[in-house]
Amino acid sequence: MSFEYPPAPVPVRATQAKLSEAVTGCRACDLWEGATQAVIGEGAKDAEVMLVGEQPGDREDIEGHPFVGPAGRVLDQGLERAGIPRDDAYITNVVKHFRFRARGKRRIHQKPDRWQINACLPWLHAELEVVRPLVLVCLGATAAQALLGSQVRIGRDRGRPMDSDLAELVTITTHPSAILRAEDEDREEAMAQFVSDLENVANWLSARRAA
Ligand code: URA
Repeated sequence: MSFEYPPAPVPVRATQAKLSEAVTGCRACDLWEGATQAVIGEGAKDAEVMLVGEQPGDREDIEGHPFVGPAGRVLDQGLERAGIPRDDAYITNVVKHFRFRARGKRRIHQKPDRWQINACLPWLHAELEVVRPLVLVCLGATAAQALLGSQVRIGRDRGRPMDSDLAELVTITTHPSAILRAEDEDREEAMAQFVSDLENVANWLSARRAA
C-alpha cells in the first residue's frame, strides 16, 4: 500500500527542532490529508523517560501538541501520582497524524493501519536517537506492538521489563484512553494499576541513580 508514498523525510543529523520542522512535510501515508497538522513528540532534551502513545487525538490535532486532550489529563494525573514530572519526560506517539472518520461534525478516532504505522515509524526511531531515554514506556497496544512485536499483550505484560534494546528499561502499560473508557466502577482500579506501572518506572530510576 505505502509504495505510492514517499518515505518519511527524516533529517539525517536530527535534532528535536529539525524533526518538528521536517514532520510538517511528511506524506509517507495518506493520513496528512485529513489531519490539521502533524504532531511530533515534545519534552526535555535530556529526558530519562520517553512515553509513547498511539496517535494524536482530536485536541492534539488542533493544538499541535501530544497528549493535551482528555487522555492527556489522565496521563498527567498518572505521572503526578507516580512522582514523574511531565516536564522531565518526553511524550510522543507512534503515528504523527490523527486518523479519524467523520460522523456529522464529530471526528471519531480510528486505529491506524499497520502500513500507516510502518510508514511513520522512522520518526519515532529518530526521536529515540535524539532523546536516548533510559526508559521507554509504551502506552497501549499500538505502541507496544509497533515497537516490541505483535505478540505483546497489555494485560499479560504490563508493568514489567520487556526484552528490547530500545532503552535500558522498556516497559508497557495501558493507554490512558482505556482508563477513560472504563466503566465507572472499574475506573479507579484501572487508574491505580496505571499509577502502579508508572511507579515501577520511578522506582527503577531512583534505584539506578542510587547505584
Ligand atoms: N492519544 C494518544 O495516543 N496520543 C495523544 O497524543 C492523545 C491521545
